[in-house]
Amino acid sequence: MSIFSRSEGAPKTTRTPEDTQPSPKAETPRPDGSPAAGAPGERKTTGPRVALKRLDAFYGETKAVKDVELTFEPNTVTALIGPSGCGKSTLVRCINRMHEEIPHARAEGEVLLEDRDLYGDDVDVVAVRRAVGMVFQKPNPFPTMSIFDNVAAGMRLTGGRGHDLRQRVERSLRGAGLWEEVKDRLDTPGMGLSGGQQQRLCIARTVAVEPQVILMDEPCSALDPIATLKIEELIEELKTRYTIIIVTHNMQQAARVADTTAFMLSGELVEHAPTDTIFTNPSDERTEQYVTGKFG
Ligand SMILES: Nc1ncnc2c1ncn2[C@@H]1O[C@H](COP(=O)(O)OP(=O)(O)OP(=O)(O)O)[C@@H](O)[C@H]1O
Ligand SMILES: [Mg+2]
Repeated sequence: MSIFSRSEGAPKTTRTPEDTQPSPKAETPRPDGSPAAGAPGERKTTGPRVALKRLDAFYGETKAVKDVELTFEPNTVTALIGPSGCGKSTLVRCINRMHEEIPHARAEGEVLLEDRDLYGDDVDVVAVRRAVGMVFQKPNPFPTMSIFDNVAAGMRLTGGRGHDLRQRVERSLRGAGLWEEVKDRLDTPGMGLSGGQQQRLCIARTVAVEPQVILMDEPCSALDPIATLKIEELIEELKTRYTIIIVTHNMQQAARVADTTAFMLSGELVEHAPTDTIFTNPSDERTEQYVTGKFG
């Protein structure tokens, strides 16, 4: 899948694995919405590198994200931590261009997916949101839809149907670790699941459209410890296929799931390092104060 609405906008040098697949037109999504051969929950390719370059994000005149330079490596989990209001959600929403949907909000700088700027002139915003999936704090299944339809919704938009659609729904639910729990009640409402199951349903819905990057904004904050553990195990598994960025207030969670951790304060990135380093030997005093619970 290309994020470019016109092929001439695509840089010719470095190509993502998807773009090297034989395709008559790189900019045309495949009929089933998938970017390449492979299926939801089965893709073995690597996620892309995501790089923020001098990223600023504004609400009106107020700058909520300030000059952030941050690289998220493929197939790693990066935790974003920092006190409430420091800009974590704003920053992740810039990565799938949802920030600009808020009235008077805008972003400046670059968000590179490999070497492609998601804020380039000829980028197709819908394709960006498909390439960069998002899971929110509160599980948000489509309220009127069945379990099956919740997962199938995005695939139907891109033309999936019939036997292929059923297979892909199953693979996505398996990929989200939910299949065994729901396989006998796929036609019942998604809202009838427990909170933890609903969150895995939302993850299934996200992976169903084959994103390359998954953003998670406090995905476990509404869940009990058992459901949280299941999501964390899932994140560990998902990182073999995707680049994952997770916002969390839970330091133990960051320590458990994240390869690297980035600490933000007042809209600025203070420090980004291997998670162990952030928790045991950070280079900035403010990081140490935050992770040891002295503020925030
Ligand atoms: N829709 C909005 N309109 C105006 N200002 C906003 C909006 N959303 C967030 N802000 C402001 O931007 C700053 C960063 O907010 P953001 O939600 O990104 O913080 P956060 O780190 O995610 O906080 P939390 O941990 O509480 O979720 C805050 O000062 C906040 O008040
Ligand atoms: Mg937030």
